[in-house]
Amino acid sequence: MAANFSALVLLLSLSYSTVPILSLGIGINYGQIANDLPAPNRVLSLLNSINISRVKLYDADPNVLSAFANSNVEFVISISNGNLQNMTSSSNAQSWIQQNVQPYISQTKISCILVGNEVLAGTDTQLMSYLLPAMQAVNTALQNLGLNQQVFVTTAHSLAILANSFPPSAGSFNPSISSYIQPILNFHSEFNSPFLINAYPFFAYADNPDQVSLDYVLFEPNNGTVDATTNLTYDNMLYAQMDAVYFAMKAMGHTDIAIKISETGWPSKGDSNQAGASVENAALYNGNLLRRIQEKQGTPANPTVPIDVYVFALFNENLKPGPTSERNYGLFYPNGTPVYSFGLQGYLPQLNYSASSINVFSYSIFLVLNMAIFSWGYNRGESTDGGGANIYVDCEFVMLVEGGGIFSNLTPCEMLCSQSPCMWDTSTEASNSIDT
Ligand SMILES: *[C@@H]1O[C@H](CO)[C@@H](O)[C@H](O)[C@H]1NC(C)=O
Ligand SMILES: *[C@@H]1O[C@H](CO)[C@@H](O)[C@H](O)[C@H]1NC(C)=O
Ligand SMILES: *[C@@H]1O[C@H](CO)[C@@H](O)[C@H](O)[C@H]1NC(C)=O
Ligand SMILES: *[C@@H]1O[C@H](CO)[C@@H](O)[C@H](O)[C@H]1NC(C)=O
Ligand SMILES: *[C@@H]1O[C@H](CO)[C@@H](O)[C@H](O)[C@H]1NC(C)=O
Repeated sequence: MAANFSALVLLLSLSYSTVPILSLGIGINYGQIANDLPAPNRVLSLLNSINISRVKLYDADPNVLSAFANSNVEFVISISNGNLQNMTSSSNAQSWIQQNVQPYISQTKISCILVGNEVLAGTDTQLMSYLLPAMQAVNTALQNLGLNQQVFVTTAHSLAILANSFPPSAGSFNPSISSYIQPILNFHSEFNSPFLINAYPFFAYADNPDQVSLDYVLFEPNNGTVDATTNLTYDNMLYAQMDAVYFAMKAMGHTDIAIKISETGWPSKGDSNQAGASVENAALYNGNLLRRIQEKQGTPANPTVPIDVYVFALFNENLKPGPTSERNYGLFYPNGTPVYSFGLQGYLPQLNYSASSINVFSYSIFLVLNMAIFSWGYNRGESTDGGGANIYVDCEFVMLVEGGGIFSNLTPCEMLCSQSPCMWDTSTEASNSIDT
């Protein structure tokens, strides 16, 4: 595989501007908590230039949906947590579809409505109780309007809904949410919609850099860790996290639901106490992830099901609260310059929003991959031992770490570990959601 890939990289390196470049195969989160982002029609040009055709919005922004009319871009749109209670009413759900989906869908592909974000990882049990009814009402409205064949309904979960995550075969949902999760799994099964998780191995590393192998979280060569129950070897944390969810679902009687990653990413910059946040690591994380997607890799427990990922995020978002990393997950600066062109700045063509036919992003990523392949020879990875699992929670971000249990740097949310399992206070949560 490496040899084939090097050949491809070489080909691209020599004549990247004339060779058709493969679809990147990834989705991207188009977050808009910023005051300096380009207009949606320019974003469309940018996405076309890098051949990304799947976009997730945190709302149903009419400006975006209309600017992308007649494009080949397919959208996941979202209903915010603040609108969940409203959506439990079938007539409100129906008007929401009529206002936010129907006017656009004949020209803009909308494939999924994401109802609520990380609701079951919060502490608001009232909100939790609205989740399934809102999903059902939205789904019924789609059925009534004849749209249920093209649009599916789901929600996105934080990995904090797991009580146990390592080894993956021991994955289980937090018992306190099982009364919510079981009927939601039944919903996914009945309507054949995927289970979405937001997964950030970065935080596992940042919170515990002495114990977590950087190579393991960055998909770099390492000896991996074996799940003694299944004998499956995990060479990266993201796959271990996905399989932990798979086994948690299995324990609740479901092996019939697909898992997709609705958010994952790595910040190119962080505060001094955020180990690992760097341009190099962000480029490795997303570059290695992209390579695995191109190889159509599955996880060890589901090797034939290619991973399906929405990378977080398209742009750096300057108005996101919280630590510096929060504002630095973007693949692009708002002016369209790729963040990951490290070392290539001099000869990377400047991105041209209006008429770029050059696949700048693919080009830089492939060069990154090329470097990774050259360093394939030496194995500087550290085996991560399969000790007891701990879940670290940062409101939006959850990380599974083998080894000691230190909860740290959990701003902007406060982790409450006086009880077991730990709970967290989301009253100051920095949300991606923008109410519409
Ligand atoms: C984009 O991806 C599609 C699907 O793989 C491919 O057919 C097309 O040629 C690509 N376009 C460019 C400009 O790379
Ligand atoms: C409830 O949803 C409907 C449909 O989107 C909307 O018109 C209405 O303003 C919402 N009500 C509240 C209180 O948010
Ligand atoms: C795991 O591998 C070991 C050694 O190869 C073998 O003895 C054991 O039976 C295997 N267990 C499973 C569950 O396959
Ligand atoms: C960049 O865009 C301008 C128009 O906005 C166009 O004239 C120019 O040819 C473009 N350059 C490239 C390299 O595509
Ligand atoms: C990986 O495993 C090999 C063979 O057991 C060993 O020699 C090497 O030291 C290991 N590498 C790391 C980084 O643990």
